[in-house]
Amino acid sequence: MLTDKLAVLYEGQGDSLAFQQLADRLGVPLRNTVQADNLSEPFFLSWRNGCLKLLDRELLRKGGLTVDIDPRNGEQRSWPAPKQGALAQALGRKTKTVVDATTGWGQDSLFMFRMGYQVSCIERSPVMVELLADGFHRLNQQDWMQRLQLSAPQLSTGNAIDLLATLTTPPDCIYLDPMFPPKRKKSALAKKSMVILRDLLGDDTDKDQLFNVALQAAGKRVVVKSPDDAEPLGGKPSESFSGKLLRYDVYLKV
Ligand SMILES: C[S@@+](CC[C@H](N)C(=O)[O-])C[C@H]1O[C@@H](n2cnc3c(N)ncnc32)[C@H](O)[C@@H]1O
Repeated sequence: MLTDKLAVLYEGQGDSLAFQQLADRLGVPLRNTVQADNLSEPFFLSWRNGCLKLLDRELLRKGGLTVDIDPRNGEQRSWPAPKQGALAQALGRKTKTVVDATTGWGQDSLFMFRMGYQVSCIERSPVMVELLADGFHRLNQQDWMQRLQLSAPQLSTGNAIDLLATLTTPPDCIYLDPMFPPKRKKSALAKKSMVILRDLLGDDTDKDQLFNVALQAAGKRVVVKSPDDAEPLGGKPSESFSGKLLRYDVYLKV
């Protein structure tokens, strides 16, 4: 249960009302740094340097993980960035609208958004939704976003298995990146942000059902991101594109 795992941490950052409201929304305790030595929860949310951050015990002393709204290293900074690389190939040249049904830290959504796709996001973890809403709010404040009159992707909270079935206009593509059980040693695993997500939320054991619903709801294709050593989620894909330690499997609708 989230109540045993997570608390909101108030570290004396001015008015504590927003902290209390966040704790109430999530139904978790509000802790004060004064009690830091006997905190029982393994995870915390707190605003640090103007960003909502997720912390574990290792990150408590400094840092924290936030939804990163900056372009990746080497990515073109003007909008839209060129539609290049394995993900763009998997999305296909004619794709305009994408629903990211497993938004997580929003890194794939934001990458697609910066390449000019029209992206909508779904996330079921209320903790990740809070972090995403904070990140998307910061994105909307960026000069370049305002200059180009752009808005951050729309974010829906809930289980995509239910929400995808209610879409009135099928998106060209539904994008899935559920959590697969790790096969590699932890040291060879992904970034800290993905390790903490797994520790907090566990594996997505209903991903087969999610795939089936996505295939029904998509206009033209479903793209599944998976570790390169994982079995394809929907059986043999129509095509596959490989990235570093990962694969994008494409399922075209017939
Ligand atoms: C591996 S992470 C996604 C990472 C993401 N692609 C990124 O770039 O940050 C998987 C996320 O999908 C969410 N998720 C999995 N199944 C879902 C479902 N059926 N409905 C909504 N969200 C789901 C999980 O809560 C988790 O946050």
